[in-house]
Amino acid sequence: MDCLNKRYSKIVFLTGAGVSAASELPTYRGSDGLWTDPETARLATAEVFEQDPQGAWRFWSKFREQCLQAKPNPAHLALSDWSRALVEGQSLTLVTQNIDGLHQRAGSPDVLELHGSIFRTRCSKYDCTLEPFEERQSSCSEVPHCPQCCSPLRPDIVLFGESLPPKADWLSKKALRDCDLFIAVGTSGSVSPASGFVHSAKFVGAKTILVNLEPMHPFNPAFEVELLGRAENLLPRLQFEFFFKQTMIDTSLPPANVHQEQFARERFDITKSPDEQAARYGHLELLGSPDQYRYSDQKFDAWIHRYYRVICTPQYLRICRLEYLTQAEIEEVENDDGF
Ligand code: APR
Repeated sequence: MDCLNKRYSKIVFLTGAGVSAASELPTYRGSDGLWTDPETARLATAEVFEQDPQGAWRFWSKFREQCLQAKPNPAHLALSDWSRALVEGQSLTLVTQNIDGLHQRAGSPDVLELHGSIFRTRCSKYDCTLEPFEERQSSCSEVPHCPQCCSPLRPDIVLFGESLPPKADWLSKKALRDCDLFIAVGTSGSVSPASGFVHSAKFVGAKTILVNLEPMHPFNPAFEVELLGRAENLLPRLQFEFFFKQTMIDTSLPPANVHQEQFARERFDITKSPDEQAARYGHLELLGSPDQYRYSDQKFDAWIHRYYRVICTPQYLRICRLEYLTQAEIEEVENDDGF
């Protein structure tokens, strides 16, 4: 998966429902997608809030409950880590089509929610003066009414036929204007304007990568690289590759400037067989030639042990700068049988 071959400075991510699939949230299309059921699909249009506000409220309240129960998965965590560990002169803009709030809960800052948030409620009348407000829990039964104008309330999400939130729309397009790396993750690329972002990125000369479970139909030639697999497996490795390559490219970088903490969900421990690794780290996908990782692992191991303590947990191989480990963490590591 040797596709990050230079130092990038303006990175734009676009995520879709596939990023949250490992958090047990449904996608919209594909075999078990939400919109495959016509009854549910009618709830994806703006008209439904006029025709059946009660039914719409009930459906989206249940979805809100599901999102509340869901937990960020390694794909969300890898993106959060990616943004937290950028070096000077780098920026990362995370644009999501998802309304589930999981990127924020994973620690990603300044997420641009292109299709709104299930955790915000607003009045169904566009010209009402009621400010949208955050609401984690909501009753699934009766649709509440606006205290200002008595119209039914609704989640502050964007449905077909509705316009995008102007700020998120503008900031996304602004970030695309000078990006040099564009990565779309877990999206079918079927809904505009997000589906056109890759063309804008390509137009300004960015490297364009799709990380998705299935190939895009029809194939979008604007993507230079297609990495097919689960985002929860691929993103941690891509993030690992990004920082490792960048670090190795910039060996002049004193370690203090280098990312302080990096999750690498899986890497090839050249002393272990894939089966032993799978037992230790769970599912492993052979994504790069062992030699390629063997080389980087040897260099990486040498580099790591000079500056880092490695913490192995059932989910993550966690690499933290020595001075960032608390005494408790060091003891945890010493006693951790996964180590
Ligand atoms: N890892 C990576 N990709 C995955 C995974 C996974 N674990 N699971 C599913 N996918 C892929 C599917 O193959 C599919 O291509 O994620 C994509 C999800 O596509 P959609 O269900 O169409 O979701 P999305 O692209 O986000 O839809 C865009 O459409 O209905 C509107 O507002 C809704 O924001 C949504 C928009």
